[in-house]
Amino acid sequence: MKPIIPALLLALSGLATGAAAESTFEKVKVDAGAQLFAAECRRCHATDADHESYGPPLENILGRAAGSYPDYEYSIALEASGIVWTPAALRAWMEDNDGFMPGTKMRHVGIDDRTVQDFILAYLASITTRDGSKIAD
Ligand code: HEC
Repeated sequence: MKPIIPALLLALSGLATGAAAESTFEKVKVDAGAQLFAAECRRCHATDADHESYGPPLENILGRAAGSYPDYEYSIALEASGIVWTPAALRAWMEDNDGFMPGTKMRHVGIDDRTVQDFILAYLASITTRDGSKIAD
């Protein structure tokens, strides 16, 4: 039985390091996403209702029903779309919003680099706190 304990400890410490590396990576992604958001989205989108926002504020956007931010004047296309903002829907939106949803009043943004999308998604997940659960990609 004896050799099992060191092996177990080794496995556990491996797990712990893995988790730490994972969270550092997550933080780097969120920071990069915050910068990309500032460059690509922030001129039209605040993250919360405390700041002026030409487009709808994007707090809690992951898992939110499209067109549901209170008192925002959406296009009919977006309001009637019936979609929920999953990571996949947000990718399609960043890549080609007006192709994905003809009739939207959001001007075309063409972010087709998956890594850039990943970073912005990580940032959007970080401002999504409504149910506190982890957002899967
Ligand atoms: C030029 C201004 C502008 C830029 C830049 C912009 N948006 Fe928008 N966005 C809008 C407007 C306006 C709407 C509302 C569209 C409608 O009602 O059809 C919108 C809507 C959205 C929605 C739907 C929100 C909801 O409540 O359903 C999401 C998600 C979104 N934008 C994400 C982004 C992201 C991410 C970026 C940056 C990559 C970005 N937008 C860049 C103006 C902009």
